[in-house]
Amino acid sequence: MASTRDWFETVAEARRRARRRLPRSVYLALVAGAEKGVTLRDNVQAFSELRFAPPRIADLPASRELATTVLGQEISLPVIASPTGVQAVHPQGEVGVARGTSEAATAMGLSSFASMPVEEVAAVNPKFFFQVYWSGDRDTILARMERARGAGAKGLIVTLDWSFSNGRDWGSPAIPERMDLKSSMRLAPEGMTRPRYVLDWFRHGGLPDLTVPNMARPGEPAPTFFGVYGEWMQTPPATWADIAWLRERWGGEFMVKGVMRPDDARRAVDIGATAVSVSNHGGNNLDGTPAAIRALPAVADAVGGQAEVLLDGGIRRGGDVVKALALGARAVMIGRAYLWGLAANGPAGVRNVFDVLRGGIDSTLLALGRRSVHDLVPGDVIVPEGFTTGLHK
Ligand SMILES: Cc1cc2nc3c(=O)[nH]c(=O)nc-3n(C[C@H](O)[C@H](O)[C@H](O)COP(=O)(O)O)c2cc1C
Repeated sequence: MASTRDWFETVAEARRRARRRLPRSVYLALVAGAEKGVTLRDNVQAFSELRFAPPRIADLPASRELATTVLGQEISLPVIASPTGVQAVHPQGEVGVARGTSEAATAMGLSSFASMPVEEVAAVNPKFFFQVYWSGDRDTILARMERARGAGAKGLIVTLDWSFSNGRDWGSPAIPERMDLKSSMRLAPEGMTRPRYVLDWFRHGGLPDLTVPNMARPGEPAPTFFGVYGEWMQTPPATWADIAWLRERWGGEFMVKGVMRPDDARRAVDIGATAVSVSNHGGNNLDGTPAAIRALPAVADAVGGQAEVLLDGGIRRGGDVVKALALGARAVMIGRAYLWGLAANGPAGVRNVFDVLRGGIDSTLLALGRRSVHDLVPGDVIVPEGFTTGLHK
């Protein structure tokens, strides 16, 4: 269906609309990508190296089954929203993502660096998983986790692949610590180039405050993003014993995100993880690591029988989802795609992105002659030699 004012037909179009709508620094913060952007580009490029098996032309299934479950939650398609801090993209922020994902009948990950309180997100989409980093002491981590549990989180995601890479060759946008008078004045010229964006915020009560309410200690006000980033940098990196402790304290569905190696996947399963996400943080961390999809086959081989294997990084169309499923993922998570949708058209834009992917998955299944997402097999995809770049068992 061709794009209209209220509908975009591809994720690429959502991205163009986001670029037109957002102030430059906000748009650049979404694109992100560490250092030279090698991994960022490879995440997307690697999907183009995979080909589908030649399509079938008769005896095709008249309807296709896309529904599945992730971490015990029923979802209408094998795609959920990956946790992202949605600072300043849209006044509805993660609540808007909750609305869009709920309308698409799927689940979302909620970042602990989110701009909206977990309780407000839970009220809109109860199918959410809370994401934590190993930041602060154990009591602090526990308090954040218990707050999310109290709000109804259906699972915990612990993201372990951050090593504080900084510096982007294309220039990091200067994000203020707080939106006070001084920073508003500094950003005013940028805002003037995007009056609709600024107006939207004022209609919702004012400019983004850039705080992270879910990182607040009990009874204390929401800290700033940079304040807690400092806490995180000073926290000694988690050991497997720390993660085992966290898993035990949580007790329920538990995903380790950022797994790129079969040995790490096995360790995660050993400590009781019920899911892993094969991910390189969307190319935002250690630049030069391979695309997530290149690491998927080896991780799926190693733990696919014992835990749910998800993939995130570079998903831009329904065909990408099908490729990941054929290579062993149960479902995928998307990041930038829904953020562009949110920027382009709020919650309806988030839903639009999921509907674009839904249409693409459905038509790919039809062409491949597969009745269900559960019927996909590695043979549905042609993998060129050297694709996995030596990421072995
Ligand atoms: C702007 C932005 C913020 C992100 N924030 C988080 C976060 O707070 N926690 C987390 O686990 N991952 C975070 N991620 C990584 C995503 O969850 C996901 O791994 C990545 O975006 C997937 O790649 P894609 O954007 O190509 O779909 C972030 C990614 C982006 C682009």
